[in-house]
Amino acid sequence: MIRRSVVIGTGSALPRRAVSNAELAAQVDTTDEWIVERTGIRNRYIAGEGETTVSLATAAARAAIAAAGIEAARIDLIVLATATPDQTFPASATQVQHALGCNGGTAFDVAAVCSGFLYALSVADAMLRTGMASCALVIGAETFSRILDWEDRTTCVLFGDGAGAIVLEARDSDPGDPAARGILASRLHADGAHNGLLYVDGGPSTTGTVGKLRMKGREVFRHAVVNLASVLGEVLAEAGLQVSDLDWVVPHQANARILDATARKLGLAPEKVVVTVDRHANTSAASVPLALDVAVRDGRIKPGDLVMLEAMGGGFTWGASLIRM
Ligand code: UT7
Repeated sequence: MIRRSVVIGTGSALPRRAVSNAELAAQVDTTDEWIVERTGIRNRYIAGEGETTVSLATAAARAAIAAAGIEAARIDLIVLATATPDQTFPASATQVQHALGCNGGTAFDVAAVCSGFLYALSVADAMLRTGMASCALVIGAETFSRILDWEDRTTCVLFGDGAGAIVLEARDSDPGDPAARGILASRLHADGAHNGLLYVDGGPSTTGTVGKLRMKGREVFRHAVVNLASVLGEVLAEAGLQVSDLDWVVPHQANARILDATARKLGLAPEKVVVTVDRHANTSAASVPLALDVAVRDGRIKPGDLVMLEAMGGGFTWGASLIRM
């Protein structure tokens, strides 16, 4: 027998306020047509007063815990991926832990921007498999609206706020069982040579301010397609599976054209790709768990399905995980 991390619940949360492309076009020099054609985005949610990364993360966590049908007290590990924490410190994960009332275990944040959820998932999976914890909450939560330059049309139309969460339970599993549930394989990468293509121009140790997001979109796009196709292939090879074995791919939701180009490069049927970028825009670390929860709740992703999660973002960082749900 080996230990595997099994997904037993998913959840998500969005701010109250939806903002359409038309509403943005009234504020900056852009059009609904440009945004839809270049990105596939039609709508995003923007956090209002009282809505923060921690409040969204807590709501998503509560939904995931309810779906899992467990008591919050069972959670002994929280790994929260965010680039927009409520405070520079303490970690937002500790605030979520306190709000849920499961104090005493382990709780920390990871920073890998848009790939943050994949990084958080791999760290939690490793801790569960080595026995450091038994039941983990893995969260991606962001309020990117608070680090956007609302006068820069090349970035402000692309992002939104939200949170997604999953509950992972360590279970004994037969290594020879092809239908065994759980995380089957994961790969993470980083290449710091590309820091300057997607970054925030401030921070506690440099400017003493939070800073604003800056991106050279066209260059990020080019790297994203190559890196995502490549890491997905690595994870499939590690699991001894083919693209055609996948039931679903849940990608980071940055741009519909990236999703199409990656699927084409891999020979993946487009109907197997979960797309939510049209309604949520790019929610950074929240985008993968948010899309996963949408597809679980609308009945597309079912227990036993083979699902690939993948993301790429600032750093650059990128990664993928293969899960039997
Ligand atoms: O989540 C982390 C990963 N991030 C990503 O994966 C983002 C990757 N990049 C992208 O999604 C795309 O590159 C963008 C959506 C950011 C941009 O699309 P693009 O097709 O690469 O456009 P572009 O940057 O080459 O800009 C084309 C034109 C420019 O005008 P000129 O120079 O051709 O006259 C821009 O100034 O579109 C203009 N433009 C806009 N026009 C209307 C840029 N933003 C806007 C806008 N509205 N909001």
